[in-house]
Amino acid sequence: MLSLLVSAASGQEIVSAFPGQDVLLPCTYSRPDKLQPRATVFWRGKDDINVYDIINNEPDLSSQESRFNKRTRSFPVLYSQGNFSIVLQKVQLTDSGPYDCFILPVDFQLRVQLNVTANRVTGEEGPDTGRRSGSAAVRVNPLSLLLFLLFGKTVLLYEN
Ligand SMILES: *[C@@H]1O[C@H](CO)[C@@H](O)[C@H](O)[C@H]1NC(C)=O
Ligand SMILES: *[C@@H]1O[C@H](CO)[C@@H](O)[C@H](O)[C@H]1NC(C)=O
Repeated sequence: MLSLLVSAASGQEIVSAFPGQDVLLPCTYSRPDKLQPRATVFWRGKDDINVYDIINNEPDLSSQESRFNKRTRSFPVLYSQGNFSIVLQKVQLTDSGPYDCFILPVDFQLRVQLNVTANRVTGEEGPDTGRRSGSAAVRVNPLSLLLFLLFGKTVLLYEN
């Protein structure tokens, strides 16, 4: 089945995926009370390209880089909770790189590193078993279950 690895290394989120998968690029601000009444949030990729804008609590895709057209969504009902995470659909190798979430009213910046790696050989479970055996001491985060329920994918969250 599909898998997605998310790990936190030296304060930077790393999201790993295979081509064709949908990934969540997380960005949540823990003090949503400071974002009232409306927030403006910019998601930017490598070389400052426009991935997603939220302007005054409304998605605004008018300046979105064309290669992200129809491949992104956010969760407007969660903005009031400070959650400005976006989903990037059908990722490709070329989507790998840094994604920065800027929450303007509070000068908050979070970097998510997306790592799309070549797909496993069809019909083999090789990469999965390799990862599992290689990470015996790693704890699986309970968020995995939540992400599984939300996205119907096998998601493993590792904490270093
Ligand atoms: C933000 O929303 C996304 C989409 O529902 C969810 O997967 C994620 O867990 C949320 N983040 C937090 C910190 O609650
Ligand atoms: C991306 O994933 C591959 C395979 O899991 C790994 O070897 C590589 O170190 C990762 N790169 C980054 C920047 O995390």
